Amino acid sequence: MGPARWIAVAALVAAAVVPLFLRPAPGQVLEASGPVAGASVRFQGACQRALTDRHGRFQPPANPRGSARITASRPGYAIAAAPADRLPLQLFLTPLPAADNDEYHWLDPVSCASCHGEIYSEWSASGHARAANGSRFLHEYNKLAADRPEAIGVCALCHAPTFDRDPSLDYDLRTVKGVNANGVHCDYCHKVIEARTDKLGFQFGRDAYTLLRPPDGQQLFFGPLDDAVREGETFSHAPLYSQSRYCAGCHEGVIYGVHVYATFSEWLASPARAQGKQCQSCHMAPTGKLTNLAPGMGGMERDPQSLASHALPGATEDMLKRCLTVQVSLRGAVAEVRITAANVGHRVPTGFIDRNLVLMLEAVDAAGKPVVAAAGPALPAAVGDHCGKSGKVFGRQLRRAEGGPVPFWAAHDAEDDTRLAPGAADVTEVTFAQAPARLRVRLLYRRLWLPPGSPGWSGNEVTVFDRRFPP
Ligand code: HEC
Ligand code: HEC
Ligand code: HEC
Ligand code: HEC
Ligand code: HEC
Repeated sequence: MGPARWIAVAALVAAAVVPLFLRPAPGQVLEASGPVAGASVRFQGACQRALTDRHGRFQPPANPRGSARITASRPGYAIAAAPADRLPLQLFLTPLPAADNDEYHWLDPVSCASCHGEIYSEWSASGHARAANGSRFLHEYNKLAADRPEAIGVCALCHAPTFDRDPSLDYDLRTVKGVNANGVHCDYCHKVIEARTDKLGFQFGRDAYTLLRPPDGQQLFFGPLDDAVREGETFSHAPLYSQSRYCAGCHEGVIYGVHVYATFSEWLASPARAQGKQCQSCHMAPTGKLTNLAPGMGGMERDPQSLASHALPGATEDMLKRCLTVQVSLRGAVAEVRITAANVGHRVPTGFIDRNLVLMLEAVDAAGKPVVAAAGPALPAAVGDHCGKSGKVFGRQLRRAEGGPVPFWAAHDAEDDTRLAPGAADVTEVTFAQAPARLRVRLLYRRLWLPPGSPGWSGNEVTVFDRRFPP
């Protein structure tokens, strides 16, 4: 062999052997009793991850952000962290405490604000923060307390889940104080380890959730991240937090025999669920503004698209307009209104049983005088002010022979449910006595059945659609 050949052979050998040395050594995840299989390993903040094999071994994933820490996690264990350059690359997982501590003292949400400022301000402005003392809630609660004082205790289960040691046993939310007055708050939600749905609707609020509260002197939070780290604190990844099931315990409830809240079961039957959309996909979608969970307090810069929002918008003007499409046609004396609900995970309206949409058609002649309808639906007495006009109500009404709606805690004989189903169009046709010169079509969303202008009316109505034809 000539020298040229020797060089070629040496190059081939090097090409085969050198990558073996360049390839990073495998790492391992262990617990006291030995290797841990199925643990998720990632450099903090990176989206690439590796899973451990049955020997607890993993090939280190990419570290595109040059993170100084590597983390390992598995549901049921505390998230572990180690310096990224530790050799050998070993991470040790610690199992979570075996039992819940029911002597635990709840932390006030204000105590999270010093580090999680942005999440705190989102939560403070949300319905969850007002769940125990919001004005509409108290408006109904006071009516209930007047009608059935013995029946008020059940409301606390969902509206103030940490209010569980009332010495008077009344669980009267008008007397709730301290941390429990924060309604559905941070520390409660982040102590949930399991959300049971085996008695869906019949076991609800705090009775449907299993908590894991740490022993005195320690801290423990569950959440969607599998790489959250803070000195002196324990985090644990729980995939549950990114699933609809997590919300089911409070957003499904049969109270006094009435299926007052049905949002989760509506979601189970929805096209959104078939497309893999969870409650969080629409109600906790990242805003793109949150880039660091605890800036300057140990948080790291993260991809804003990986961080959920806690504003949890419900039926706001924006959410309603995003999911409802209204198409109007006027041919001679015949008006047709087609309403479609799409991009929504349940019926519209959903949530509290009183929520309703009022569709209204008002026609005038050339002189501006009202034109009456010759055929088509008219609004029932339940809508109050607009009763008798052409239109429809989309909502649930508990009725008695003499009329409705009655509150859910009062006896009733029948229920009408005329709400919109996701993906299906509803068509309303009205034939006027003569071809109108102008037609006004309105769609109003109302939170409670209240006479307009009455106490509690403020914030009760949202205009979803209001247009005149011709414009
Ligand atoms: C109704 C229950 C609930 C309340 C109240 C709540 N959270 Fe969350 N939180 C969640 C859920 C669910 C997620 C996961 C969302 C996802 O994966 O899309 C989450 C995610 C998080 C995360 C992970 C990062 C992120 O934004 O995705 C942090 C940190 C957090 N919450 C802190 C807080 C703090 C602080 C408060 C109070 C100011 C709070 N949470 C109130 C349920 C709640
Ligand atoms: C002294 C600062 C500080 C305080 C106070 C604080 N946290 Fe955190 N929290 C952090 C840091 C740092 C992280 C990790 C951030 C990261 O990895 O980007 C974190 C992460 C979290 C996570 C994510 C866990 C996961 O695995 O998804 C949750 C949930 C959380 N905190 C809840 C709370 C709640 C609830 C409170 C108030 C009761 C609170 N924190 C108070 C600093 C704090
Ligand atoms: C511990 C009980 C509880 C849990 C868990 C819970 N909620 Fe709620 N939620 C409530 C209560 C109670 C209200 C009503 C607050 C009020 O009185 O206006 C509410 C209100 C809402 C609203 C309406 C907010 C508004 O401003 O009108 C939305 C949307 C919502 N929740 C979504 C969710 C989603 C999504 C989840 C799961 C990630 C969830 N909730 C988990 C109890 C809960
Ligand atoms: C595909 C997006 C999408 C999904 C998935 C989704 N929602 Fe909604 N949600 C909406 C829209 C849009 C509205 C506003 C229209 C309405 O009130 O029905 C809304 C309204 C609500 C309301 C009414 C709040 C109020 O102000 O009365 C509640 C409560 C709610 N959703 C909870 C949930 C829960 C719980 C889940 C999961 C079981 C869920 N949503 C799944 C889009 C979604
Ligand atoms: C199964 C859990 C659960 C129980 C029990 C419960 N609620 Fe609710 N409540 C909710 C949820 C979830 C919402 C939010 C739905 C929405 O926004 O449309 C809500 C919303 C409301 C609202 C609307 C508040 C607003 O701001 O518009 C009123 C009023 C209300 N509840 C009254 C009561 C009363 C009174 C009781 C006791 C008889 C009670 N609830 C028991 C879960 C519950």
